[in-house]
Amino acid sequence: MAGAPSSYLCFLSLLLSLLIPSSPTTITLPLSHFKTDPSPHPYQKLTYLASVSLARAHHIKNPKKALATATTTTPLSSHSYGGYSVSLSFGTPPQTIPFVFDTGSGFVWFPCTHRYVCRNCTSSPTDPPVIQSFIPKLSSSAKILGCLSPKCGLIHNNPDVHSRCKDCQAAAKDCKQICPPYLILYGSGSTGGVTLVETLDLPGQKVPNFVVGCSLFSSHQPAGIAGFGRGPSSLPTQLGLKRFSYCLLSPNFDDTSTTTQLVLDTGSDSTHKTPNLTYTPLIKNPLIPTKHQFSVYYYVNLKKITVGGEKIKIPSSYLSPGKDGNGGTIVDSGTTFTYMAYNVFEPLMTSFINQVKDYKRVESVESQTGLRPCFNVSGHKTVSLPEISFHFKGGAKVALPLANYFSIVGDAEAVCLTIVTEGELGPAALSGGPTIILGNFQLQNYFMEFDLRNERFGFRQQTCK
Ligand SMILES: *[C@@H]1O[C@H](CO)[C@@H](O)[C@H](O)[C@H]1NC(C)=O
Ligand SMILES: *[C@@H]1O[C@H](CO)[C@@H](O)[C@H](O)[C@H]1NC(C)=O
Ligand SMILES: *[C@@H]1O[C@H](CO)[C@@H](O)[C@H](O)[C@H]1NC(C)=O
Repeated sequence: MAGAPSSYLCFLSLLLSLLIPSSPTTITLPLSHFKTDPSPHPYQKLTYLASVSLARAHHIKNPKKALATATTTTPLSSHSYGGYSVSLSFGTPPQTIPFVFDTGSGFVWFPCTHRYVCRNCTSSPTDPPVIQSFIPKLSSSAKILGCLSPKCGLIHNNPDVHSRCKDCQAAAKDCKQICPPYLILYGSGSTGGVTLVETLDLPGQKVPNFVVGCSLFSSHQPAGIAGFGRGPSSLPTQLGLKRFSYCLLSPNFDDTSTTTQLVLDTGSDSTHKTPNLTYTPLIKNPLIPTKHQFSVYYYVNLKKITVGGEKIKIPSSYLSPGKDGNGGTIVDSGTTFTYMAYNVFEPLMTSFINQVKDYKRVESVESQTGLRPCFNVSGHKTVSLPEISFHFKGGAKVALPLANYFSIVGDAEAVCLTIVTEGELGPAALSGGPTIILGNFQLQNYFMEFDLRNERFGFRQQTCK
């Protein structure tokens, strides 16, 4: 009978495992390209992506203040083409809505009701995409967020919002006054609506009382936003995620629809380490009362950039956020082409121009694409250009594959650097905010992990499938 105690233990643990419902700690969602193709011509496409990346940078750096009655809660992509999309299901029964996947934003909202109005939300008036709305009436679990709810203070980033709950002062307990509407202004548009608490229906897990914006009108927004940034109302915070990760597919200039996985992890294993990842710490966000948005971004500690092994001279004040909140590097899933402030970009470009001897610079292509420098590679079977590397604190280094920072234009006649800066707007136009915004194009075919529990950002190069 020597085996009895151990078989008893086995039985006990089996019993326990049956009694304790195990909720999954990993949730996997498909992540795909945001489907829109405003201009098929490759020149125009690059020009377009360059201009939306710059508009996005403008917005991230100089978030607009909100109007008096409402409060800006989050920055938004000024345009989301070139971005990635994730579908989420809300309500009972669930309604599935596509969202722009945005690590540079801290609020989740969807187009809402049959009356949703969207101005300039489609780039092609002849073939407008159908904008899918959430219909609260069809959900038995939709509730409007009340004025006195602490969550109302959080989404308005203002605990004093409750002083506006006038109706509630008299009848405190069952006050019906709703949380004041939100209005979010961004680069070239806006969205606004009322805030709901609703069930978020994830694969294998229902999350009740998720705070989500029900937008009644927007402009220049092709879809709702899934804010994966920091802050109390972002998706990772509301779900208590320990980490999330994804692998960025190459941008689909040919519009083939492929998806990768966005993995949300709620498990609490602090010793977790994903194989082969290089980590760098996420650094503390600047907390500037008038620039609340800076508290939403993921800042990484970039120490230096090299081009062909040559170190680019960057003023050290540019590399980390200062007391005024300006400076530093963020990783942003809503940006396509990496943005660099003028004073970082110019020496970087000079370094390329000085090192590239085999190809002629073509300024005609530069003015057509809005990208620079561009080189004429006509007649060359293979193209070799100086390697660009980002060196992060902790020794992590990203040496980008050529396809991640030079793009072929036209009929393989020229290649252009896919990093943007202020350009004609002049260096003053985009002062303030992060100095460098790392975009998707540069991180294509990288697996990335936002390890929120350990406050670090991990990555490895791999072919995303
Ligand atoms: C927005 O749409 C209006 C027509 O509804 C049009 O006149 C205007 O040019 C558009 N603006 C942009 C920036 O696309
Ligand atoms: C990690 O790297 C090793 C060696 O390069 C490789 O064999 C292995 O497949 C990698 N594992 C993952 C999960 O990428
Ligand atoms: C690139 O160089 C080739 C050969 O010298 C020339 O024919 C072509 O016009 C150049 N392309 C551009 C865009 O300047």
